[in-house]
Amino acid sequence: MHNDSSMLLIKHAAEIVTSTGTTARKGTDMNCLERIIDGAILAKDGIIQWVGQTADLPESIHKNTTIIDATGCSVIPGFVDSHTHFVFGGYRPEEFFWRLSGTPYLEILERGGGILNTVKATQSMGYEAMVESASRRLDEMLAMGVTTVEGKSGYGLDFDTELKQLKVMGQLNVEHIVDVIPTFMGAHAVPPEYRGQEEDYVTFIVEKLLPAVVEQSIAEFCDVFCEKGVFSVEQTRRILQAAGDLGLKRKIHADEIVSFGGAELAAELRAVSADHLLQASDKGLADMAAQGVVATVLPMTAFCLREQYARARWIIDNGGALALATDYNPGSCFSHSIPMLIALAVIQLRLSPAEILTALTLNGAAAVGRADRIGTIEAGKQADIVMLKYPSYLFLSYHAGMDIVDKVIKRGQVTVDKRYRNLGGSK
Ligand code: NIG
Ligand code: FE
Repeated sequence: MHNDSSMLLIKHAAEIVTSTGTTARKGTDMNCLERIIDGAILAKDGIIQWVGQTADLPESIHKNTTIIDATGCSVIPGFVDSHTHFVFGGYRPEEFFWRLSGTPYLEILERGGGILNTVKATQSMGYEAMVESASRRLDEMLAMGVTTVEGKSGYGLDFDTELKQLKVMGQLNVEHIVDVIPTFMGAHAVPPEYRGQEEDYVTFIVEKLLPAVVEQSIAEFCDVFCEKGVFSVEQTRRILQAAGDLGLKRKIHADEIVSFGGAELAAELRAVSADHLLQASDKGLADMAAQGVVATVLPMTAFCLREQYARARWIIDNGGALALATDYNPGSCFSHSIPMLIALAVIQLRLSPAEILTALTLNGAAAVGRADRIGTIEAGKQADIVMLKYPSYLFLSYHAGMDIVDKVIKRGQVTVDKRYRNLGGSK
């Protein structure tokens, strides 16, 4: 399958369904998809060359072309999981039940548990073991149709371990077929040795960690957990201003647990995205929409923490650009299930299937600064494509909580093939 010049042809797709464009879609535009019946896609060396109806295919197809007959299948862009914490050591199963029996998330953190438990396990984990475990997680995500994954550091909170997490992601980006976008999140929690001297930890991030991360080119984004009792709006501004000055793009974990001004700050700094947003104010969300900041909503985290969902419907109805992501991590949301995310989005967030597809593809791509290269099925974009075992993308929502991915094509190569489609799914 690995030719020097590799050609791929997908033909007779029941439909090709995709957003279009190279920037995030906002408001009502999120609902507009292009749909090609009896569709075909030609890709060369991992890049889409041509998309249209099978009957209109160019006459000459190179004889070494891999041909996939997609009869009975809906074909969509690969999903972009634009917010995860997939590189970590250890697990926290007990904590999940403590929370469900009433102990608040931030109280567990305050007692030295939560994120800080994962920090201990991540600090003591060897580099190779970390690569191996994170690589298996990427395999599982890929199997559900995810072709690009953003991942954050923030389980190190010391110089060596923060860099170790980012280097693991860099290595996986090279070795694993999934594209990995590394985000530096040294400001994920205050480590125990800085308790009561939070400002000194911020200084350590600004003066030591950020310059090292930038010097070694091991992160594209900087993210901060801006939350009452974690990092204040002022501290977040200080860190993200420094990060921006050094050339990193910016994200914020904003207004997750209390309304705190994180969304407003994301707009002020023109961050690429602000994420969570459960408690974000109308003004904060409107400011974000006006500044083109992607609102990344993570409904599986709200579900697992038994919190109220972010106002995704309101965000779109007020002209915002919405992305959906899993927030896969060992604490607040130990799940990277795309089928479950879609089920929550359609039923609880009241989004349309078209809005969900845009949020998980083009707008996810915009949230990781890649909308020019991925997120849609159009000539010139990377051939990251998912074939479903049913003839309509509506089955993603309708077949609630079920994985309906048949094949995953990454950069023009078939990397997952479940051969589901003749089990009764085709017409
Ligand atoms: O996005 N909110 C803060 N950080 C992560 C959770 C990390 C953890 O609990 O380990 C989140 O939900
Ligand atoms: Fe997160």
